[in-house]
Amino acid sequence: MSSNRPDASENPLWEGLTNRPLPQPCTLVIFGATGDLTHRKLIPALYNLYSDGNLPPALTVVGFARREKSDDQFRAELKEASLKFSRQTITEELWDHFASCIHYHQSEFATPSGYTSLAKKLDEWDSQRGTRGNRIFYLAVAPDQFEVVLKNLKTSGLNNTNPESWTRVIVEKPFGTDLASARRLNTLVQGAFPESGTYRIDHYLGKETAQNIMVLRFANALFESAWNARYIHHIQITASELLGVEGRAGYYDHAGALRDMVQNHLLQLLCLTAMEPPVDLEADSIRDEKVKVLRSLRPITGKDVSAHVLRAQYGAGSINGKRVVAYRDEQGVQPESKTETFVALHVNIDNWRWAGVPFFIRVGKRLPKPGTEIAVHFKNVPQVLFNKTTEVLDENVLVIRIQPDEGVSLRMSAKLPGSSVRIEPVKMDFHYGTSFGKATPEAYERLLMDAMSGDATLFARRDEVEEAWKFIDSIREYWDHSGEEPAVYSAGTWGPSEADHLIRTFGTKWRRL
Ligand code: BG6
Repeated sequence: MSSNRPDASENPLWEGLTNRPLPQPCTLVIFGATGDLTHRKLIPALYNLYSDGNLPPALTVVGFARREKSDDQFRAELKEASLKFSRQTITEELWDHFASCIHYHQSEFATPSGYTSLAKKLDEWDSQRGTRGNRIFYLAVAPDQFEVVLKNLKTSGLNNTNPESWTRVIVEKPFGTDLASARRLNTLVQGAFPESGTYRIDHYLGKETAQNIMVLRFANALFESAWNARYIHHIQITASELLGVEGRAGYYDHAGALRDMVQNHLLQLLCLTAMEPPVDLEADSIRDEKVKVLRSLRPITGKDVSAHVLRAQYGAGSINGKRVVAYRDEQGVQPESKTETFVALHVNIDNWRWAGVPFFIRVGKRLPKPGTEIAVHFKNVPQVLFNKTTEVLDENVLVIRIQPDEGVSLRMSAKLPGSSVRIEPVKMDFHYGTSFGKATPEAYERLLMDAMSGDATLFARRDEVEEAWKFIDSIREYWDHSGEEPAVYSAGTWGPSEADHLIRTFGTKWRRL
């Protein structure tokens, strides 16, 4: 493959993109290759990596799925999807060259001969392409297929590495539905692949701004010195979506927002926000620190769940002026479903740095505006000068915008020009797009590149996943047994009034995005 890597002489800020070594030649086998994830995310991400010159010179991509089709049909379908979903323009020449490394392998997931014939083809491609037996197996299948695929990979010997090559597995979410199932799945995966070769996807970790949290904190003396209970009043982490359940009711109605978003994405953001500085930037050093945060979460159990966690479900309403149906009226949702599409939580981290600082997490579908952010609210200044009598000063708020309009802003107080002292909040704002003049890569680009390079930093480790489930399980157990109905909010509003009440009891209110 020819190199299209960005030219750092055009913009010195692109230096970082060009000096990363290319991953070694390898083969990526995608199980579930005709599914949504492959079409919307994986192939467009690979095309973008290719177009930026970031793929190894020899790469084979193999789609493994049940339906009959030829390589050409498969490539044509992927091209159509990439035209829709790639962040870069698809040009004929580049696409043709890129697509020439893509093959289709038809088999049922449960048919052992499908794996032995795959093994044969992989050996052939290895010798034709020089991919040297380096392989990644990507499980982009429904969770109920994980077991059969893993077992067959093992029985067929495809999980084996010889000392000259490496074999890795990427496991898509959801990684279990509770602690017990996550443990079972971990045991299953580890029966076939070592932890060091296991890459559990949490696509939030691949988002550029999520990676910037550590840089912001540990590369700037200013922030880290005030990043503790002495200066911080509370932290709000919000993930708001306009979208509803979007044809995924079969999965979502069993999952709900707590499992779908909080157990993984939101707790990962919380960890990056709250963790101690790692001893170095090795994957395990960072993951060790994240696990410590998860282990310091104060469990929310029994009746405490009602006081600290609020769940709700969207009713009918309107989004961008268009009427939308209630969650219970969405296709595939049980008419009596209690599944939550909104959760608000108050979380305590019982460690030295965060003692007494409330963290609030809010996540919901069918809210008025899409956006994910972390808002760090600092304590107010002592009431001795400008705010001694009547003036109420707005506290400093540092907002890390994960998406959209990725960036960071800081609200501070400034004097309004004029002869009297009037103080108004003003904002210092950094936007990725304008500051770096380069489109932000998609999360899956980074994650695929890292998995090919053997860097597991942005993937969840076994203990992280299990600790997160431990925290989530006690909340779910209470909900399952309490018989309480979720609150209801109209689609297109910021959640139910009960969520406002939850945060008000801590003397604050939700930020408007
Ligand atoms: C997925 C959830 O993991 O993340 C979806 O299953 C959710 O329900 C999605 O919509 C949100 O991801 P993003 O990148 O659009 O914020």
